[in-house]
Amino acid sequence: MVEDSHAWFRDGPRDMAHERSGLELDTAGLSPALLAAAKFLPALPAEQSHGAWASQTRDIHVPTAALLGMISVRDRYDRPQALAAGRLWQRIHLETSAAGLAMQPLNQPVETIDRERQTDREAKSEARLAAVTHEPGWQPTFVFRAGYPARKAIASARRSVEEVTEEA
Ligand SMILES: Cc1cc2nc3c(=O)[nH]c(=O)nc-3n(C[C@H](O)[C@H](O)[C@H](O)COP(=O)(O)O)c2cc1C
Repeated sequence: MVEDSHAWFRDGPRDMAHERSGLELDTAGLSPALLAAAKFLPALPAEQSHGAWASQTRDIHVPTAALLGMISVRDRYDRPQALAAGRLWQRIHLETSAAGLAMQPLNQPVETIDRERQTDREAKSEARLAAVTHEPGWQPTFVFRAGYPARKAIASARRSVEEVTEEA
C-alpha cells in the first residue's frame, strides 16, 4: 500500500511539470518552516515519508479541523455510486473553495478497507468507520476535513481540459 501510494508522490517541480497530477511537498499542508526544511533535504524513502505523513494527520490535520466529513453510498464497490461520490466531492470542493473555506480529502481510513480485504485481514477499518456513522445501510467512501484556512495554500497542479479529453 505504501509503495503504491508513494508512486503518486512527485519528486520536485520537474517531475510535477511533466505529470501535472499527484502529490508534492508544496501542497502537502506543511508549515512554512517544515516545508523549507523538507525541500532542502533529499526525498525520504517511502516508509519514512508515510510515517511522517501519518504523524501530521494524527497531530495536526485532524485535531485542527473544524469539521470532518464523510460521503457515504449504499455500495462503495458499485462503479456508478463511486463516480457519483467523486463528482459530489469535486462540486463541494469547488463551491466551498469559492466561499473561502479550505478542504482536504483524508481518505486513508477508507483505503485501508480495501487493503484489509485484499490481504484477507480482519475488517478493522470497516468496523472503525461503522462505529462513527451508526448507519448500517450506508458505507462511507470519501472522508475529508474542512475549515477556515490559517494561511494561503499553494494551488495544486492540474491537467488542462485539452489534456484529458479527446475530440470525437
Ligand atoms: C482520493 C484522494 C484521497 C486522499 N487521501 C488523503 C489522505 O488519506 N491523507 C491526506 O493527507 N491527504 C489525502 N489526499 C489529499 C492530498 O494529500 C492533497 O490534499 C491534495 O493532493 C492536494 O491537492 P488539492 O489542492 O487537490 O487538495 C487525498 C486526495 C485524494 C484525491
